[in-house]
Amino acid sequence: MLVLGIETSCDETAVALYDSEMGLLAHRLYSQVELHAEYGGVVPELAARDHIRKLVPLINELITSTSLALPDLDGVAYTTGPGLSGALLVGASLGRSLAWGLGIPAIGVHHMEGHLLAPMLEDDKPDYPFLALLVSGGHTLLADVAGVGRYTILGESLDDAVGEAFDKAAKLLGLGYPGGPAIAQAAESGTPDRFTFPRPMTDRPGLDFSYSGLKTFTLTTASKHELDEQTVADIALAFQEAATDSLVIKCRRAIKQTGHYALVVAGGVGANQSLRSKLAALAKKENSKVYFPRPEFCTDNGAMIAQIGCLRLQGGESDPLAVGVRPRWRLSELEQPGV
Ligand code: KG4
Ligand code: ZN
Repeated sequence: MLVLGIETSCDETAVALYDSEMGLLAHRLYSQVELHAEYGGVVPELAARDHIRKLVPLINELITSTSLALPDLDGVAYTTGPGLSGALLVGASLGRSLAWGLGIPAIGVHHMEGHLLAPMLEDDKPDYPFLALLVSGGHTLLADVAGVGRYTILGESLDDAVGEAFDKAAKLLGLGYPGGPAIAQAAESGTPDRFTFPRPMTDRPGLDFSYSGLKTFTLTTASKHELDEQTVADIALAFQEAATDSLVIKCRRAIKQTGHYALVVAGGVGANQSLRSKLAALAKKENSKVYFPRPEFCTDNGAMIAQIGCLRLQGGESDPLAVGVRPRWRLSELEQPGV
């Protein structure tokens, strides 16, 4: 079964072709980062308008990069949530209409389920059950993944998502958008131990996270100092250390609690090198294994949507003709596919 996947939930227009037998065939992405940079964050209406401009040319580019043509498709998948409603509607309406025009089934995909199973796009993939740490601009959660559609949330952020905290801290430090890569880059020239930030939620039992306190601590520290280049780097490093340590501490607890061997890291913050090396060290110590999707599949992409769409279409699911999106959609509402 050959499926076209479309992702437009936020600020990336992304498409991919996934085949049930051959796996991922091709993928393309257009990032709107430059468009939103001058506003310091994603502007929903501009995001939706830009998806309209870019989506059709990107699908054409994707198809022509292969020897396939639109009539070869067996299904179309698109992100229907969670995300920005206007942006989601662009992908959903185009995807649903294209499927109708071709006389093939269509399926709306949960963006977070896409991230959770993104490691399955790689040759070296984990066996079920595994632990998944999902760290993006909108989510911070630890889940027990027993199989496709079988997710138990073990802990999540009670306030800001960790990626959001990176973005806000970067803005406070005048580092631009998106904040994660900017903080990581500045932190490279930071002086270790000049500042020590608290590790939120680590003195309490459980697997929940909290990042709003860390943001306030960054603000307070920044307001007490002259923000020269070195001080910005030092604060960025202290922030990154605290943010990643609190994730690692919860992962260690979750490994002990579940006894699962594999830990999968998904979502944009999973591209952070400091987090990656700390988790790799943790896995070594705990005799477990950590799986990272390649960086372009950690952040938003079309491949993860095409993959889930294919799994669910094969399981007999499909969407009605009406175009609908679910900007708020909890992972726990998902069910196991039919097969
Ligand atoms: O998964 P993603 O691409 O989009 C969604 O939020 O769904 O994640 C984007 C988030 C942003 O907050 C961005 O600042 C963060 O991931 N991010 C990083 C890094 N690269 C992206 N955070 C820390 N370090 C990075 N290297
Ligand atoms: Zn995402």
